[in-house]
Amino acid sequence: SGAEMARLVASRVLDVPDFPKPGVVFKDLMPLFADGGAFREVIDGIVAYHGRDSFDAVAGIEARGFVVAAGIAYATGVGVVPIRKAGKLPRPSYAASYELEYGEATLEVHQDAFTAGHRVLVVDDVLATGGTAGATLDLVERAGGTVAGFSVLLELGFLGGRDRLASRPVHALLTV
Ligand code: PRP
Repeated sequence: SGAEMARLVASRVLDVPDFPKPGVVFKDLMPLFADGGAFREVIDGIVAYHGRDSFDAVAGIEARGFVVAAGIAYATGVGVVPIRKAGKLPRPSYAASYELEYGEATLEVHQDAFTAGHRVLVVDDVLATGGTAGATLDLVERAGGTVAGFSVLLELGFLGGRDRLASRPVHALLTV
């Protein structure tokens, strides 16, 4: 159930104060990834929430989103597409930039990443301010995909990411 999923994520997330910089509390989901049973449960939980026939591809956001995306791809038999930080992809790509607290960040996707009209499930570990997710959802559509859904393991509700993704379907296993 949704409540069990939320409890599972809550039981495996570690709060790391002052990382990557003073004043920020980093939400570390590595303990969940490192627990084979828990990892499998959250992957199956995301697939069950959307329905295994509701998407044709899964896109993961660098870097921890890659882990989630690969699990879903293997569990369902769809292919996995990486959304990468600037300068990492070898072939012609689309880029989308978004605001950080200080400065700007850019994400990229290969121009031929998706078959036209393919329904794409987008996944990441954490939704914080929503900048990363917003840029990614735009990129998926520019590359010819249709966003079938967006899931994260953990949403930091107090940062308002969901509001910045207005009209986008946002699903979190746990919101704090
Ligand atoms: C973290 C997290 C999300 C993003 C969420 O990634 O994994 O991708 O931040 O933040 P936002 O909602 O405020 O945009 P990070 O930037 O730490 O990259 P990494 O996974 O490559 O370390």
